[in-house]
Amino acid sequence: MVTPSSGHPWEHSGKEDWMTRQTVLWPLGVAVGFLALIGVGASVAHYLQEPYNPGFLEYPTIVAVHVVLGGLYLTLAPLQFVRRIRSRHLAYHRRTGRLLVAIGLVVGATALFMGLVIPFSGWGERVIIGLFGSLFLIALLKGLAHVRAGRVALHREWMIRAFAIALAVATIRLIYIPALLIVAEPTDAQNAVLWDTSFAVAFVLNTSVAELWIRATRRSGTPRARKVKAA
Ligand code: HEM
Repeated sequence: MVTPSSGHPWEHSGKEDWMTRQTVLWPLGVAVGFLALIGVGASVAHYLQEPYNPGFLEYPTIVAVHVVLGGLYLTLAPLQFVRRIRSRHLAYHRRTGRLLVAIGLVVGATALFMGLVIPFSGWGERVIIGLFGSLFLIALLKGLAHVRAGRVALHREWMIRAFAIALAVATIRLIYIPALLIVAEPTDAQNAVLWDTSFAVAFVLNTSVAELWIRATRRSGTPRARKVKAA
């Protein structure tokens, strides 16, 4: 049972907590917008350079579907989290939400294909993408299932998790590119380590920030999945 003294302090927010959340909201919004732009930029840049992964040439359609739909996901998804748009244009939120789930499932499935069949770095990437690609798909499906059952608060939480994993595509680049500049002319083995480490750190960082945000903004009345089941 949730008692007034249990859970995260922000769950039982007073004026002070509300102000703290507002203070975090803006920098977080700017960071999310920045990462989304980098992610979309990555999709555009993909067509402006030679493929670094020879596997991309073996499966051009799968790669193109992933890159184009990934860019579209990161263009549309941020707006789904803007409260003003949700409250004033709920029909738009629903329509775009359905489209984003469909797009996200294709992006996740193609990510799993590329990560498992043509990984740039090898087994490290297979494991990391196997884990986070699956989590991305699970988060999208749970987000959809919750909203269809009318559990809006849990829908919000799972869609934040999915979005955080997608945004890691940008965080990876912010880690990998500087690391590549620091380790000038890395060997293939060193490059693979940098690649895998950037992937792992980015996914863990993004999902951790998402979990902190979810816990900080969870309302005291939000049912946990466990409780909903029991009910
Ligand atoms: C939703 C937004 C996404 C965008 C915009 C995006 C963008 C891209 C781009 C542009 C590439 C080609 C790489 C390049 O030419 O630089 C790529 C490859 C790839 N993406 Fe995504 N992606 C997204 C989501 C995801 C997700 C959610 C995952 C997995 C959790 C993922 C896993 C991969 C993998 C494994 C590759 C191949 C990497 C390799 O060369 O081994 N992507 N993505």
